[in-house]
Amino acid sequence: MPPDRNQPMSKSKSKYVCQECGYESLKWLGRCPSCGNFNTMEEELVLPELPGKGKAGRYFDIAFSSQPVVLTQEPQEGEMPEEGARILTGMSELDRVFGGGLVPGSVTLLGGDPGIGKSTILLQACQTMAKQGKVLYVSGEESPRQIRLRAQRLGVSNPNLLLLSSTQLQAVEQAVEKELPSVVIIDSIQTMFSGQLNSLPGTVSQIKECASALIAIAKTREITFLFIGHMNKEGSIAGPKMLEHMVDTVLYFEGDKNLAYRIIRASKNRFGSTNEIGIFEMGETGLRQVENPSAALLSGKPHGVSGTCTVCVLEGTRPLLAEVQALLVESRLGSPRRMSTGVEQNRCAMLLAVMEKHMDLRLGVSDAYFNVVGGLRLNEPSSDLALVLAAASSYFNRPVSDEIVAFGEVGLAGELRSVRDVAERIAEAVRLGYTSFLVPHTDRPKLVPAGATVYAVKNIAEAVEIALQPK
Ligand code: TYD
Ligand code: MG
Repeated sequence: MPPDRNQPMSKSKSKYVCQECGYESLKWLGRCPSCGNFNTMEEELVLPELPGKGKAGRYFDIAFSSQPVVLTQEPQEGEMPEEGARILTGMSELDRVFGGGLVPGSVTLLGGDPGIGKSTILLQACQTMAKQGKVLYVSGEESPRQIRLRAQRLGVSNPNLLLLSSTQLQAVEQAVEKELPSVVIIDSIQTMFSGQLNSLPGTVSQIKECASALIAIAKTREITFLFIGHMNKEGSIAGPKMLEHMVDTVLYFEGDKNLAYRIIRASKNRFGSTNEIGIFEMGETGLRQVENPSAALLSGKPHGVSGTCTVCVLEGTRPLLAEVQALLVESRLGSPRRMSTGVEQNRCAMLLAVMEKHMDLRLGVSDAYFNVVGGLRLNEPSSDLALVLAAASSYFNRPVSDEIVAFGEVGLAGELRSVRDVAERIAEAVRLGYTSFLVPHTDRPKLVPAGATVYAVKNIAEAVEIALQPK
């Protein structure tokens, strides 16, 4: 490439890195050719190579041996043992999301909006984790005094819990080498920086460098790391997408700051299912687990009102009751509004179209709003039937009978399709006092609990007929 006369010589050591995807280029580009985002290229200095090892030397030579071994061979001395006891956080809701506690030596990334409670939940978890081994809490965001005050309020105190207020990777590495804790919390990975790089904290190179150095420590010393991650405006964890590939587990802390319930969900988990969720409630003394989420999510459900229906979804292994709502009103706009919170908007639009076609309703002139109560997000198709019933209920202004729980996937022909674990869903609903169930006709359970009525229906028109109270 010909030298650029407009650039001073010293610039030859810098490169431009896309802050979204990590694409590197020698020139500044207005649009990243890799991810297509505009204005995301930032100048960063090139990492000096270590003599004889190249850029990557500092990570990989300490991390893994070059000697292949037989997969099923017993671990050698000094090697990590088979999966043994997991580290418990003292909160069963959180442990479940991890797949039954933290695996020693694993690296987890916890993302979430500011103020959602990331620092709070991990500090609370320290109380129990410190009973199982030394815990180092590294904060690059708060002073020791601030953390101490928060810990006092949360009732966290244990001589095994060490605090380090630093943003320097090298300081963290030193502290870890000296103390050899069993768990290290980094709050947050975006505030950490390495003195070896000249780019600012929070840039892709810095995040990549700090994360890989810490992950190498985790894997060689078998120390469990928990990284707190900031979110960018698109709602994913700030920094390179590669960060999510590097760690073992990625958790997202979701929910509206102003709503009562906060939900932790795994989006990647090398040691467990990604379907499990943990439900928490923010209070005066930190986050509390919600012991009976179905009852909590249904509390305050109005009686005898049109436009609401109870659904039973499966979140991982656990059935969960929730209330879905719909509001259909005559539109004053040329193209009617379709809005939804907690369910995918396209799915709602599809369900309205199916209703229009197969129930002969005139929905094209209605604005339609859908909502799932309590900040829950439903992404299982089994909530289709309840959404249809709530919409029909609002359209006809006839409430869905109070004792009814409905679930089933709705197909484009208006037919109801099978869902899994029908018996578990019914059992959970019976536990909360529901007696009538609308299920797809192929899913009629063999055993119906005493006192319960199961309606196995073929299509949405039939379901609406049964569920809506007479006018
Ligand atoms: P925090 O854990 O600092 O959020 P994050 O680290 O995700 O940015 O939690 C912040 C919010 O939680 C803050 O707005 C205050 C509130 N909060 C409580 O309501 N009760 C509490 O006991 C604590 C510690 C925080
Ligand atoms: Mg914080």
